[in-house]
Amino acid sequence: MTEERTFVMAKPDAVQRGLIGEIVSRLEDRGLKLVGGKFMQIDDELAREHYAEHVDKPFFDGLTSFITSGPVFAMVWEGEDAIRQVRQMMGATDPAEAAPGTIRGDYALDLGRNVIHGSDHEDPGSNEREIDLFFDPDELIDYERIDEGWLY
Ligand code: PPS
Repeated sequence: MTEERTFVMAKPDAVQRGLIGEIVSRLEDRGLKLVGGKFMQIDDELAREHYAEHVDKPFFDGLTSFITSGPVFAMVWEGEDAIRQVRQMMGATDPAEAAPGTIRGDYALDLGRNVIHGSDHEDPGSNEREIDLFFDPDELIDYERIDEGWLY
């Protein structure tokens, strides 16, 4: 198991519904460490780059217009096996299939509005690509959290 950083985003629906705190809280409670956060409006160029691998999918235009439809809260979280752990906490991409207890399983119903994005553990390097796309290196903070010795 290795210490990893993963990119996470509270999507526009999460912001509009007041779920930023809930998402942050769940990841903090799990023991993951927040090392970067940015409340921002994604423009079309950034949306197309972020979702570039899906450009040929039928839902691409809907996906980019949704992610640019309002502000998002972009984050970087750190921890052991963080990429896969966050994906598990998010639940299935389609909220209708997401297990209760997961973020999507508790807060979403519609595939088009699934509250949260997290780097894909099945796509090696996607975490670093996404972190680089959204954050400058000096926006990520290295620090010790007092509970780390109790977690690992
Ligand atoms: S994933 O998350 O990459 O494993 O899933 P994938 O199925 O490849 O989906 C890529 C992103 O597109 C979103 N998605 C959709 N949006 C709207 N309509 C439909 N039908 C749809 N299908 C997939 C999905 O939520 C992924 O976005 P992110 O932001 O990564 O969750």
